[in-house]
Amino acid sequence: MKLNIPKFKRLIPDSTITEIKNRIDIEEVVGDFVSLKRKGQNLWACCPFHDEKTPSFSISPVKGFYKCFGCGKGGDSIDFVMEAEKLNYLEALKYLAKKYGIEIKEEELSDDELKEQSERESLYIVLNFAKDYFVKSLSSQEGKSIGHSYYKERDITDDIMQKFELGYTLDKWDGLLTAAKEAGHSLDLLEKAGLVIPKDDRHYDRFRGRVVFPVHNVSGRVVAFGARALKKDDKPKYINSPETPVYHKSQILYGLFQGKQAIRQQENCYLVEGYTDVTRLHQIGIENVVASSGTSLTTDQVQLVGRFSKQLTVLFDGDTAGLQASLRGVDIILANGLDVKVVMFPQGHDPDSYAQELGANEFKVFLEDKAQDFIHFRLNLLAEEAGNDPLKKAAAIKDVVGSISQMPDQVKRTVYLQEASNILQIEERVLIGEMNKVLRQTSKSRATSAEYVPPPKEDVAPQQKTDATSGAYDLDNLITFQERESIRLLLQYGFSELDEGKRLHQYLFSEFEDIVFKDPVHAQIIQEFKDLLSTNKEIDAQHFIDNGSPEVRKLVIDITHERHHVSSLWKDKFKIRIPSETEASKLEHSAFTNIMRLKQRVVRKLIEENLDKLKEAQTVEEESEYQQMHHELKLTEKEIADQLGNVILK
Ligand code: CTP
Ligand code: MN
Repeated sequence: MKLNIPKFKRLIPDSTITEIKNRIDIEEVVGDFVSLKRKGQNLWACCPFHDEKTPSFSISPVKGFYKCFGCGKGGDSIDFVMEAEKLNYLEALKYLAKKYGIEIKEEELSDDELKEQSERESLYIVLNFAKDYFVKSLSSQEGKSIGHSYYKERDITDDIMQKFELGYTLDKWDGLLTAAKEAGHSLDLLEKAGLVIPKDDRHYDRFRGRVVFPVHNVSGRVVAFGARALKKDDKPKYINSPETPVYHKSQILYGLFQGKQAIRQQENCYLVEGYTDVTRLHQIGIENVVASSGTSLTTDQVQLVGRFSKQLTVLFDGDTAGLQASLRGVDIILANGLDVKVVMFPQGHDPDSYAQELGANEFKVFLEDKAQDFIHFRLNLLAEEAGNDPLKKAAAIKDVVGSISQMPDQVKRTVYLQEASNILQIEERVLIGEMNKVLRQTSKSRATSAEYVPPPKEDVAPQQKTDATSGAYDLDNLITFQERESIRLLLQYGFSELDEGKRLHQYLFSEFEDIVFKDPVHAQIIQEFKDLLSTNKEIDAQHFIDNGSPEVRKLVIDITHERHHVSSLWKDKFKIRIPSETEASKLEHSAFTNIMRLKQRVVRKLIEENLDKLKEAQTVEEESEYQQMHHELKLTEKEIADQLGNVILK
């Protein structure tokens, strides 16, 4: 009897990983992205991760590390590839293997997986064939006189046509169909790709007599088309590809492939509605732009952009009819932790038409001038609309608190609630109460995107709470933040020497002694670090990225990459300078305040738990025991607050 044993995907073997690591030369790896100039031992360039005019990005070929003194990003060659190409660890290894011609044994796929993969491959091939065919048709007699002259009329240059691979589809029933069949593509495949439509027992082209915008996925493969009518009364205005195995509309953004580099460098992405808005902005030199193609954004799309930039600027067409509804659509961006700005266009204009009217320079100034923080914009709009009408005001509060509560980041929520309180002239306490109501209703996952360290201001937050649960909610979050921060310090600087020659990990572990890490993944990392210390190895983030469980790896990658974000948030919003942690004394200071905050929050949590017990106490003995406990905890809390106060004021 023969058993059917399924084959599974395999990971890269250890020996191959070692081979790759031995071959890596950071100068060569980084040199593929920027041009490097030697100064002393190191090589310098303008940072590929942020926009700058003078080089602050350096690599040390000896150590195999890169570091940007502008944005703070740094790491080894693998980190660099992960960051630059937005790959995960395994993908980065594969990238490097390819670069150095190291063979990675083909992954073994099950038969079903193989079939699926080859179907997708064939779809890409036939879609690419179609794209080439549409581009070619543009230079046919008909294409020139109809398609090309349409583009010219709209002032779209040949450069842009090439960059976006714009095309034209002949005004007949079987142009593509015949060409594709001649080239050997099956009818079945053409239909699956959404290029032809069956009718009775025949087939005909989906796109006819229109200009064609191919839609690329993030890695540049054509996955769909949008074809625009050329005459006013041709309906519909656009005919789009249907969903196919390689085209899920909700996961694709038009222009992302052409714009991703600029989006990363500008640390901002403009969001527009249409194909022509994207091409117009490119034409005037604004390349960090994507289009949602007329529908509202999905979580997948927001996360896709989020890989390249944490800020989206939404450009709203100037028709106020659907404005409130469109504004509500922005909540999905907030919910994914991105910062949002908005720009409103004058009545009757979209970005394309307005750029045409103003010209490139004036249009750029307009964008910069008019970009407003989304919540501010919303608040002002609501305040204006509500005036002194109490009912409208109540609705406004609900509306804006709804938006703010979407933000996964506790710190941002706090800041925005304060501003809402100012602008709407409503006590902050009321807004906090309202927000906690929303949070409880949606029971948003706690601290899933615990990205930022909370500001010192937060230390007084528990006193503002309006009911029992809101305090608990905040505290759990804050403790998670602080635990992560401890781990970050440990992994990034554990072996740095402090002033008295002590190493940071020694200091941290002596302070951790009375703390139980609440998050199991955090606890796991702390424990493993401790265990490894006895082997006298220098442990760092890379160790956990290489050897950790998937949860550990994800967490470690997250926390070691988010520092830049944290510090700019602190700087922008709270006007607090984060000391550079590379100096020993400052590192110790950082570690000290972090640990104290963690302890402060743990104590606060104990106080609340104890108070709950006190309320439920059944006997006099119990009651006095909890009273005593309360007293002691309060003393501890005060002591910590005093110490923190000293440090913060220094
Ligand atoms: N759209 C669509 N189907 C339609 C109308 C619009 O798919 N029938 C999508 C297209 O992606 C289009 C976007 O919605 O680009 C915005 O629509 P609209 O503003 O009407 O088109 P523009 O892109 O501005 O096109 P044009 O400037 O040529 O009018
Ligand atoms: Mn338009």
